[in-house]
Amino acid sequence: MNSLPDLPAFPTSRARRLRRTPALRRLASEVSLRPSDLILPMFVAEGLADPRQIGSMPGVLQHTQDSLVKAAVEAVQAGVGGLMLFGIPAHKDAVGSGADDPDGVLNAALARLKFELGDATVLMADLCLDEFTDHGHCGVLAVDGSVDNDATLIRYASMALAQAEAGADLLGTSGMMDGQVGVVRRALDEVSRAEVGILAYAPKYASAFYGPFREAVDSSLVGDRLTYQQDPARGVTEALAEVALDVSEGADILMVKPALPYLDILAAVAAACPVPVAAYQVSGEYAMLEAAAERGWIDRDRAIAETLLSVRRAGASMILTYWAVEAAQRLR
Ligand code: PBG
Repeated sequence: MNSLPDLPAFPTSRARRLRRTPALRRLASEVSLRPSDLILPMFVAEGLADPRQIGSMPGVLQHTQDSLVKAAVEAVQAGVGGLMLFGIPAHKDAVGSGADDPDGVLNAALARLKFELGDATVLMADLCLDEFTDHGHCGVLAVDGSVDNDATLIRYASMALAQAEAGADLLGTSGMMDGQVGVVRRALDEVSRAEVGILAYAPKYASAFYGPFREAVDSSLVGDRLTYQQDPARGVTEALAEVALDVSEGADILMVKPALPYLDILAAVAAACPVPVAAYQVSGEYAMLEAAAERGWIDRDRAIAETLLSVRRAGASMILTYWAVEAAQRLR
């Protein structure tokens, strides 16, 4: 027999033992998702004869009021935890008049869904002006073209009342204006709508991953949102400051956005935060994976499950995802 070089001692600790069979792996697993942890973002457009495919988000539709109801019922039957609605008005203007019009596309959709679904799900609405303005910014503009923070707050308060009146359970303050959570909370409380909650988008970054969303809401935005959304080059300190402000102003849930490129931020926020933390797997995260899968470059279903798990593992107790229905069905 050949003389062998000195071998290291055989390992006494073997991590592979718990990986040997599916049953062992299942027993050892620590992170899991329930269908009710998933929230489905949905788009409803005014003046559409038929639902319309969003090119950069294969499988996601701009709905008509009727197709929205049908899809919402299916989502609720699949067990998703809630629906987040975005409206696309037929006519946009400088102040986003459609946003607080009770007959505007988003408020009409909320009222219809409340009527059809009652309290069977959690109805959420995007509380932001960018879908409604002709310039595509999340607020109204000052004469110099910048986004006017405090003038925008007045519009948000009015939007909040319209959405509450239409039946929203939670309002998603996503415009990144300073003071928006406090203004919305006060507006709701003044009209005795204390039961309506606020899902505050914070921290929310100025992200390239919102690209396909612009197509989804027919946005005409030129430029970027860097003067109000957070700079990806900032860090956890700023994120926690945003969170602290929103909590002090009355946020009931906080949402980190986007998800995958900001898992470090998500983990820090989840560890520090006294309210539930959501994460938004945004349009670009969806498009990126779908595009790679379409080319056969990635195993679509495994990649979806893995990204959802990673967001959960980082600390999100709920996840907004365009895969919510499909993932919920697979989890059941
Ligand atoms: C603001 C809003 C945006 C998204 C959700 N709410 C766009 C933005 O902030 O630029 C993006 C969601 C996505 O990309 O999936 N109304």
